[in-house]
Amino acid sequence: MCGIIGYIGYRKASEVILEGLRKLEYRGYDSAGIATLSGKIQLIKDAGRLDEIHRRRNFLQLEGTIGIGHTRWATHGGVSQKNAHPHSDSHGKIFLVHNGVIENFEELRASLSKKGHRFSSETDTEAIAHLVEEELKKEKDFGKAFSNAISMLKGTWSVVCISEGEEAIHASRNGPPLVIGIGEGEMFCASDVPALLAYTKKVVFLEDGDRAVIKKGGFEIFSGSKRVRRKIHSINWSAQMAEKGGYPHFMLKEISEQPAKIREALSADVDEAAAILGGQEHFTVVACGSSYYAGLVFKSIAQSILGVPCEVILGSEFQYARTGKEKVVIAISQSGETADTLSAARLAKSSGAKVVAITNVLGSSLYREADASVMIGAGPELSVVATKSFTCQVAVLAKIALALGKREKELERLQGVSEKIEKVLESQSKIKKLADRLSRFKDFFYIGRGMAFPSALEGALKLKEITYLHAEAYAAGELKHGPLSLLDKNVVVVALAPADSSFPKTMSNVQECLARNANLVVLSDSKQALGKAKLSLAVPKAEGAEIPLVYSVPLQLLAYYLAVKLKRDPDKPRNLAKSVTVE
Ligand code: F6R
Repeated sequence: MCGIIGYIGYRKASEVILEGLRKLEYRGYDSAGIATLSGKIQLIKDAGRLDEIHRRRNFLQLEGTIGIGHTRWATHGGVSQKNAHPHSDSHGKIFLVHNGVIENFEELRASLSKKGHRFSSETDTEAIAHLVEEELKKEKDFGKAFSNAISMLKGTWSVVCISEGEEAIHASRNGPPLVIGIGEGEMFCASDVPALLAYTKKVVFLEDGDRAVIKKGGFEIFSGSKRVRRKIHSINWSAQMAEKGGYPHFMLKEISEQPAKIREALSADVDEAAAILGGQEHFTVVACGSSYYAGLVFKSIAQSILGVPCEVILGSEFQYARTGKEKVVIAISQSGETADTLSAARLAKSSGAKVVAITNVLGSSLYREADASVMIGAGPELSVVATKSFTCQVAVLAKIALALGKREKELERLQGVSEKIEKVLESQSKIKKLADRLSRFKDFFYIGRGMAFPSALEGALKLKEITYLHAEAYAAGELKHGPLSLLDKNVVVVALAPADSSFPKTMSNVQECLARNANLVVLSDSKQALGKAKLSLAVPKAEGAEIPLVYSVPLQLLAYYLAVKLKRDPDKPRNLAKSVTVE
């Protein structure tokens, strides 16, 4: 969601911050702003895209070597200039940016208003700046005043603050991530590592309840009034990984990286996770969105080869659906910061469950809080929608299930899946043509059975996210229980028909769609199936756990090329954020 960056050092702060904010655009936002300190604090903020604002207002006119920047994803107050961050106190001397939700902001505003504070936005954030101002009346030390103000907040936040006369950045975390980047004679802080990669690979992840004072020569972290030490991590992501590398969009780059990334995912160390999961009589998986669909793949494999019942629960529903007796919970989250998944994992942990995290982000909340973490190794994923992170999750989860079932042969076969995905990528021009042919339709159904069903769900999610077309997925056998009533010549049905044991029944469902004059698109490795439809795509033969990997990739490409054809930005879909840090 919101993106934060802070800089203190010797470079022009507005330049570093603008670049950093560009790297955080993937998180999703609707307005942006930068404030820098050069004697006085100067500010530029507005609604709209970062580069549009920059064209109109030129962020680089902001002088100084200390500053903060923000991309806002509106929660409290509409999308407008006045609600964009940074926000300031009454006198324009203290400026801060915030990610999260201040739950007691109405009480705070009411009591501050009584003391004469005038608010200029509708945000919850602005109250924090006024609180710091109020505390400074009683306390000369800025760090203490900041700390006192923070102690009055209820809710979630990462806050980064600068003030006139202060050669320091003050920061606090309680919920949304905040990472400090360590340079030589310069320091950074940001919501996420990609913003820092061009400058440093040495980072410290703040923990909930931490407050940091960051100066150009170093930093101090406090938990309450106690100074604490946090581990310095070395990040193995490169700055190039956060660039488009010649591709028109991050999404296409990330789709294309999948053969290599899946190879890496399949070499992940799963021993610690397997030690926790081995011998269990029941698994519970919690996750959201695409990660939830990856969980469904795990369920199919775990139940079929291990005979262990597995329940997959949406993060947001876990609080209502749980028994309280869960012994082991697998929490799947690319970002490791999804609030719904995190709160499910925390709830499970609080009632005694062990948590195994499957994540892509080292040092993320889920990574740190789990009893064991498996890194999926997808590298930075900067398009808002999940592509390589989904397939890498599936690969790692399949590896865990196959390792638990001691299925060495199947595990070995799975290593070859990347070559099949390379073949899918070679058929890109065909998929692009398919997208062109489908671009006049508004309604899409995706169907699949067994191992292909999670791919159908993922395909429909990708399409709706980036094209804004109506798409839904059904287990192929479910069509006749309701949705068939919607099929006619205006509807597209994308049928996933791998030639496995589900094939004959899927083909009957395909016939049902043809009989209703739906526009059928078949993806299959069977000539018989491909011959049934005017539009089709041959997919390499896949078995078992390979199916969701091999079938998801052409659906990602179909969604991508349809979005491009419809002139939508596939990397930044409207209303969506990459890392969803609110429940
Ligand atoms: C879909 C997508 C979202 C995420 C979901 C969970 O393209 O990106 O549905 O999968 O928000 O995110 P993580 O995996 O970070 O917990």
